[in-house]
This record gives sequence, structure tokens and C-alpha cells, in this order.
Amino acid sequence: MPASLEARRLRKSLQGRVLLDGVDLRLDGGSITTLSGPSGGGKTTLLRILGLLGSPDDGQVLLDGADVLKLPPRETRRRIALVAQAPAMFQGTVLDNVRTGPRLAGQELPEADARALIVRAGLEPQFLGQDARALSGGEKLRVAVARALALRPEVWLLDEPTAALDAERADLLARLLRELAAAGAAVLVVTHDARALDQLAGTHLQLAGGRLLGEKAA
Ligand SMILES: Nc1ncnc2c1ncn2[C@@H]1O[C@H](COP(=O)(O)OP(=O)(O)OP(=O)(O)O)[C@@H](O)[C@H]1O
Ligand SMILES: [Mg+2]
Repeated sequence: MPASLEARRLRKSLQGRVLLDGVDLRLDGGSITTLSGPSGGGKTTLLRILGLLGSPDDGQVLLDGADVLKLPPRETRRRIALVAQAPAMFQGTVLDNVRTGPRLAGQELPEADARALIVRAGLEPQFLGQDARALSGGEKLRVAVARALALRPEVWLLDEPTAALDAERADLLARLLRELAAAGAAVLVVTHDARALDQLAGTHLQLAGGRLLGEKAA
């Protein structure tokens, strides 16, 4: 059954500014949600909380109705992928990077599978042997997508993923995200990219003044 990720009454202040002022949000498997809002408005902060990389001052994150703090951390992190705007690469090749997640879960990803994942993420196969830390921003972004694909997450959180991509690569990524949603994933994409918003055709939300506005906002 497709997973759902839900935020309930999230509050977060940083340096005296209220970024999240009681945010409710529900991401359902099989659907795409897009999020925009003013720079510095708290979108990345919200994504990091949903992706278990940040903690709220108050409120809860629920995966399939269960408080994530009460779920096994490693397995829960595998189920929720966060693709950062400028993803950090692990040391080593692109192949090493794509293999890291499965390896931590005790599985050795065959090279042919890793190759198929990077191609699905929009990279040519010859990238597999390259030093991941020497790649361009847009290439790193696609490695991060391949790394996430390797874990088969149920929830995808992406932070301005098309910002570093040309139109053709951005179109490919939008198509991939639609495929993932069609296969049951819950997908949240922070983006200001009008073309991506159009292609993702998701439910659109805006975060401003600590509140979510839009058709899905509570
Ligand atoms: N670790 C931190 N410590 C202090 N302040 C922080 C921290 N992280 C973020 N902030 C501040 O919180 C505010 C919201 O940042 P956030 O990155 O969530 O915004 P954003 O909506 O993603 O903006 P952008 O569209 O520019 O990416 C900013 O003013 C930022 O400076
Ligand atoms: Mg941001």
C-alpha cells in the first residue's frame, strides 16, 4: 500500500523568526505536491524536518500514521529520500555513491543495477567510474537522485531539483518523478521553476509567513 507522510502542527523558529507556525501537510502515495514561497521562508527547513534531518520545536511527523520518532530510524530514513539542492557527495566514484545506501542495508548493488539507476537519473553510463566530488552541480544532483533510487524510498522530498539542470534534463527529471508517483511514491518538490510546476502537475502549495497556503493547506 502506498505510504503517506504527514506533518501535524509543525512549529519552528530560527534566530527569533517563526518559520513554521503550525504547519499541517499530508503527502499521499501516488501524488505529487509542489511547494514554493519566498526565499528564506522556511521551505528547506520544512523539507529537512519531513526528511528526518531536522527537528521541529513542536509538532509531529507521521509515516503511515505512526510518529517517526517511534519508528526504527535506519529503516525510516530509507523509506524517506531527501534530495538536497546542492547534494554532498560521498568520497569515491559515482558507483561507490550509488552503492552506499544498499551497502549500509547489508546489500551489494550489482554494477549493472547501479548503471541502470544513473541512466534513469539522467546520467550517461560512463559517469559510473568518475570521482563524484569532481562533478558539476547538476551532475551531483543526478547522482543524488540515483542514490535515492537505489533505496526504493516511498517518500521523495526534493529541494529545487531543476535549478542546476538544463531544460532537457529538467524535463527528464520531471518525467521520472511522475513515474515514481504513478508507481505509488509520495513526492514533494520545492520549486520555483514554472516549467517544472507545469510538468509535475502536482497540488501546489506556498509557504509564506510560517503558513502553508494552497488547495491542500489545512
Ligand atoms: N541552522 C540554521 N541556523 C540559523 N538559521 C537558519 C538555519 N537554517 C536556516 N536558517 C534561516 O532560516 C531561514 C529559512 O531558511 P530556509 O533555508 O528554510 O529557507 P528557504 O525557504 O528554503 O529559502 P530559499 O528559497 O532561499 O532556499 C533563513 O532566514 C535562514 O537563514
Ligand atoms: Mg531552500
